[in-house]
Amino acid sequence: MEISTSILSVKKEDAVQTFYNIEVAKTDYFHIDVMDGKFVEQNTTEFMKESAQTIEHISNIPLDVHLMVEDAKKYAEEYLLFNPGFITVHVESKNSKEALEIIKQEGIKAGISIKPNTLVEEIKEILPYVNLVLVMTVEPGLGGQKLILETVDKIKELHDYRIRNNLDYYIEADGGINLDTIDLIKEAGADIAVCGTAIINAEDMKQTIKELKK
Ligand code: DX5
Ligand code: ZN
Repeated sequence: MEISTSILSVKKEDAVQTFYNIEVAKTDYFHIDVMDGKFVEQNTTEFMKESAQTIEHISNIPLDVHLMVEDAKKYAEEYLLFNPGFITVHVESKNSKEALEIIKQEGIKAGISIKPNTLVEEIKEILPYVNLVLVMTVEPGLGGQKLILETVDKIKELHDYRIRNNLDYYIEADGGINLDTIDLIKEAGADIAVCGTAIINAEDMKQTIKELKK
């Protein structure tokens, strides 16, 4: 299991020090939650852009960009400049297919994400073309929410579908994942777990990441 640490709950005042601590704690990715104030109420565009810039300068750990925005194409173009490991767009955004094309053309791994009420059925036709599927295990918008149990079935469904159809996308789960819930998503077949508050608020980030990876 790989761990992608969400920086959504990082405090602006000590952001650079926290990014450094996350790197030392051996995260596999930095998860960048871009919210435009339209797709979700929250707006993180400024903080995420600054943070992506900073992390790209100080770290070799890949960025895992999660675009919770209406205009996926616009933000995909913006984040391509940071040479991220992944850019993931929501199928519920207005131009997700166009955005996926642009991301792939630039040689960056492209992901598709589904909100808790969106069915796997709705992305089946694009599964052969994506490198990653991000299953939202909470409603997008805020860190520190409780994992919605019903969403775990979609991870299992994507896992079985991948085997049956000989596909090779990564499965990532995002929201409410901590030491108590990580086994659920692992057993369902997720490859990458996004963890925000479980890591950011931990007393010992390194120990927490180590335990999450077990
Ligand atoms: C929610 C974000 C998540 C969130 C995870 O909209 O996409 O990445 O920050 O935070 P936790 O792990 O605290 O649920
Ligand atoms: Zn996220």
